[in-house]
Amino acid sequence: MAHGSWEEATRISTDLGDAVLGDSLDYMEDLAPESVDLIVTSPPFGLVRKKDYGNEDAEDYVDWFDAFGKQFSRILKPRGSLVIDIGGAWIKGAPTRSLYHFRLLIMLCDRHGFNLAQEFYWWNPSKLPTPAEWVNIRRIRVKDAVNSVYWLSPTPWPKATNRRVLQPYSKSMLSLLRTGYRAKKRPSGHDISTKFSRDNGASIPPNLIAVAHTESNAYYQRYCKKHGIRPHPARFPAELPEYFIRMLTDEDDLVLDPFGGSCVTGEVCERLNRRWVCVEIVEEYLKGAKGRFERPPTRRIPRDPDRAENYYRVPRPDILWDGSPTEPLAADGGRKRPAPATKAPEKRASGGRGTGRLGLETD
Ligand SMILES: C[S@@+](CC[C@H](N)C(=O)[O-])C[C@H]1O[C@@H](n2cnc3c(N)ncnc32)[C@H](O)[C@@H]1O
Repeated sequence: MAHGSWEEATRISTDLGDAVLGDSLDYMEDLAPESVDLIVTSPPFGLVRKKDYGNEDAEDYVDWFDAFGKQFSRILKPRGSLVIDIGGAWIKGAPTRSLYHFRLLIMLCDRHGFNLAQEFYWWNPSKLPTPAEWVNIRRIRVKDAVNSVYWLSPTPWPKATNRRVLQPYSKSMLSLLRTGYRAKKRPSGHDISTKFSRDNGASIPPNLIAVAHTESNAYYQRYCKKHGIRPHPARFPAELPEYFIRMLTDEDDLVLDPFGGSCVTGEVCERLNRRWVCVEIVEEYLKGAKGRFERPPTRRIPRDPDRAENYYRVPRPDILWDGSPTEPLAADGGRKRPAPATKAPEKRASGGRGTGRLGLETD
């Protein structure tokens, strides 16, 4: 499967897959139609402020992506899936958001015939509050801590099962299962039948994936450091591709990551026994990725569902509001920059920065 120019320092080839140095558009053109089971990827985001790993300008993003969409729809099997993790972007100099990721989704469906199987949100509880100007200084926006993850498919029936991504029952569900549920109609009109009190062993997850980006990537980072390689600046946590690879593919299926970066997808496929190809255009990123394949795949140590650190806690939105009167809002919507604060720091409410008991960072 090797393609493009090769050096020993970047050659990654295992029994299950290859990392390819080159432009994934060229690579995909050589692939047979309907040959790939899953494309899971995190493309360069359409950040308005370009970063050093080749982000496209938000304005031109959809046009740039069009050629990729065409190839994705050609090479995917009819029961295959395309999963795209994409971050939002702010309009330069304004406290407003770019629509580029919505446009991308609509373009893929309208122009390339994809179906939106489901949209997911990856919540990164350790995301820093940016842009500081809107979030910390003017206090007119909140932290942007979710990425959209679009699950698309060439047909409305991609192969999939939620049975592989189950979660432990909540305490309230466990008590419901113990005490039983009286079948009745909810105020919403939903008919809650006795089927809801059947113990299936685990619960079906929502479309919110919570993973702090303080990833267990120590080996990769050590490898980069040892070899004087800059680690990839925009890696996704392994749990993200892993979730979709488990839900949407079987062993020996072929998984492609056309924006391979540090080959997290390849490393996950090694663990899960899927065939894989990661294509990456920047040689240095593949030099670092090599470290992921130097030793046999690490076996997953099952997490303990009884340990608090395996959960993130989300406060209810009104948790600190006691109903007392509040300062009026700035009539100009925060347009005038506040004078630098000289007064004593605000008293922190409990639950503020540094609580971090469960690895959460607030502001
Ligand atoms: C957001 S990063 C992906 C990071 C990756 N998921 C990881 O966890 O390491 C996007 C990557 O796409 C690469 N890229 C951009 N255009 C490409 C192209 N046409 N072909 C292959 N790779 C490309 C960039 O160099 C960058 O490393």
